[in-house]
Amino acid sequence: MVSSSSAAAGKHGFKKSTLILSLVALLGIASTIDFLWASSSSSFSSYLSIASNHVFVVPHETHNTQILKIADDKVGKNHNPERVLSATFADLPAPELEWEQMPSAPVPRLDGSAIQIKDLLYVFCGYGTLDYVHSHVDIYNFTENRWCGRFETPKEMGNSHLGVATDGTRYVYIVSGQPGPQCGAPTSRSFVLDIETKKWDSLPPLPAPRYAPATQIWKGRLHVMGGSKENRHTPATDHWSIAVKNGKAIENQWRKEIPIPRGGPHRACIAVDDKLFVIGGQEGDFMAKPGSPIFKCSRRLEVVYGDVYMMIEGEMKWKVLAPMPKPDSHIESSWIVWNNSIVIMGGTTEKHPLTKRMLLVGEIFQFHLDTLQWSVIGKLPYRVKTTMASFWDGWIYFTSGQRDRGPDNPQPKKVIGELWRTKLG
Ligand SMILES: *[C@@H]1O[C@H](CO)[C@@H](O)[C@H](O)[C@H]1NC(C)=O
Ligand SMILES: *[C@@H]1O[C@H](CO)[C@@H](O)[C@H](O)[C@H]1NC(C)=O
Repeated sequence: MVSSSSAAAGKHGFKKSTLILSLVALLGIASTIDFLWASSSSSFSSYLSIASNHVFVVPHETHNTQILKIADDKVGKNHNPERVLSATFADLPAPELEWEQMPSAPVPRLDGSAIQIKDLLYVFCGYGTLDYVHSHVDIYNFTENRWCGRFETPKEMGNSHLGVATDGTRYVYIVSGQPGPQCGAPTSRSFVLDIETKKWDSLPPLPAPRYAPATQIWKGRLHVMGGSKENRHTPATDHWSIAVKNGKAIENQWRKEIPIPRGGPHRACIAVDDKLFVIGGQEGDFMAKPGSPIFKCSRRLEVVYGDVYMMIEGEMKWKVLAPMPKPDSHIESSWIVWNNSIVIMGGTTEKHPLTKRMLLVGEIFQFHLDTLQWSVIGKLPYRVKTTMASFWDGWIYFTSGQRDRGPDNPQPKKVIGELWRTKLG
């Protein structure tokens, strides 16, 4: 086990009592971003790097000016020892692994989704840039080790923040999500893909639209829970399910289930035998600037967490398990089930407590299904969020997402399509 003390340190900098002040600060800063964004290039990475260079939450009123100064400069130059906290403080010690780079995906993508069925990986949608979203699926064949196909998604389907699950053999269920670029409005429209015929069919729409809800097929039912509500920011705790079979909903409407104790988007959701797990995630997300005709994204307060919830078949309640070694979000496609464990690659963690910059995650976490405990089992070639993980023939693979700026700078930068693999164990 690895201590989570550094993660805990990241949480203590923020006090609820300063929320009002923070909101005031937010308004001011949101307009600064808009100005900078308008005067910069239109690539996603430059938007996010601008966004992550600013302070969004002010931890203590009296430190306001000081912290803004730090944000504009380097933390290391500050004389107050309490404030000397390296940008990489959240990295946990982890074994090095030998990585092999494989052919990159045809397009880079952020906030896409992936499903593996046998020796094929299906990679869905995602942002290419903040102003451009993909509306197709790319296919990778692990036996041939090449990208081998592509087909379109339905016009009415979301392009990011989808809830995605498979029966493991032939059908992929795609629930709700965000159509279009920037921070657009969500849809409740839901679909099913038959991978044999590449034909799409529709499912009953979710009772309310959600961004990046935790989604999984468990005991013949498609479960959807959490995510963000219609404004993209407010965490939802609702949990619905519908019976599905052979690519069809066999009920007319979604059923209400036990709400998840903590809401929010970008979590891993995994079913193993009689257990359903929901892991990590966040409360809050970027949301559309009020009145913006293009739903221009603006950063809002986010709290990333490492909570783990489990439901056992027949028990109508959520059990709280040991949290991840550190808070982790943007991991909905970043997991595999391997050797009686869940393995999660990369993500985003809590923002830097002083600079408020976004921090990416470069570790591989393993959750042991026998002991229900976590360990850190390796490092990715770089820190990266919204990875898509898969496993074939002894190799674990990850592709896509948004990577860091370099070994010493865990802030998000380039959106990638790279594909890498390594052997575990
Ligand atoms: C992947 O490629 C292998 C080797 O060409 C082929 O035998 C296999 O059928 C392909 N997989 C699928 C599902 O098409
Ligand atoms: C699989 O897990 C078992 C039990 O934890 C362990 O002894 C074994 O070494 C693992 N296998 C690999 C390939 O790591």
